[in-house]
Amino acid sequence: MIEVENLTKHYGQHVALDGITFSVGHGEVVGFLGPNGAGKSTTMRILTTFLAATSGSVHIGGKCVFEQPNQVRNLIGYMPENNPLPIDLRVRDYLGFRAQLKHLSKSIARKRVDEVAKQCGISDVANRYIGQLSRGYRQRVGMADALLANPELIILDEPTSGLDPNQTRSVRSLIRKLAGKHTILISSHILSEIEMTCDRVIILHEGKLLASGEMNKLISKSHLAVVTEIRASLIDVKNWASELALENSEFIEQKNGYVRCKFSGTKNNDLREEIFATVNERGWELRELSQHTPSLEDLFVSLTNGKEGNR
Ligand SMILES: Nc1ncnc2c1ncn2[C@@H]1O[C@H](COP(=O)(O)OP(=O)(O)OP(=O)(O)O)[C@@H](O)[C@H]1O
Ligand SMILES: [Mg+2]
Repeated sequence: MIEVENLTKHYGQHVALDGITFSVGHGEVVGFLGPNGAGKSTTMRILTTFLAATSGSVHIGGKCVFEQPNQVRNLIGYMPENNPLPIDLRVRDYLGFRAQLKHLSKSIARKRVDEVAKQCGISDVANRYIGQLSRGYRQRVGMADALLANPELIILDEPTSGLDPNQTRSVRSLIRKLAGKHTILISSHILSEIEMTCDRVIILHEGKLLASGEMNKLISKSHLAVVTEIRASLIDVKNWASELALENSEFIEQKNGYVRCKFSGTKNNDLREEIFATVNERGWELRELSQHTPSLEDLFVSLTNGKEGNR
């Protein structure tokens, strides 16, 4: 459904996308991840024909984004970042206007406006002015707009940003319901949400593609961590860890003289037995020793080296 090859975008001297290549198949739900400034929104704007690229090629449903922008737009429902909406229109009028722009006939438009309003939980506010709605409800109006023309591909740029936990849940369940019927590309910083909704992830960092693939496979390739809490002085614990050559260590002093340690980089061997034995030898008390299954967040942090994003 989406074929991106060697896509580059320069804003003046600044390289926002540096030759990224990826594809998304029909019916896939893909999480588009990366620190701030990684180039997610830039990519989404190019995919949806709203921004010109510097070089590279993008095809949506076999159509070239640069040469056949109108055909491409007909295939896509897009909810942009911060989704700007006209505050002085009523929800129903706005969606009706959007349906017209999407070339829906009057009778189909009326039916679809009702359907998407119901799907997105905004039927009750359909006659209210958008300017009177809370942020969460405005997000839902944006989602409803993206779904109006029943597009094959739905692109959502941070659909749950700024939503409260209940609203986040309802958007998540809506996305799950849409999966299977549509191809969906979602950007988000809430990794647990991506873990729950997506089959695949694409991770960008500073305009480069760091990873693309089935989420579970990517996560299982990232390193296991061991967490332990030992009663000893911080300096003794640090010396012990360096004697054992434990890498990527984090130490946090706890109450009652304990030090909480996290060691990662234990892909091929289980360090727990060695930790237990050597702590025992020193006569230290140990109140926790567990292996930590990696999450999407661990994968994200290890790929991006825990660095903060760009402006
Ligand atoms: N119109 C613009 N002019 C100049 N630079 C821009 C413009 N839009 C984006 N950039 C820069 O391009 C880079 C990528 O920005 P983009 O908005 O695509 O990142 P993002 O991954 O969506 O980040 P976020 O998670 O913060 O939304 C950033 O360094 C940003 O400052
Ligand atoms: Mg963005």
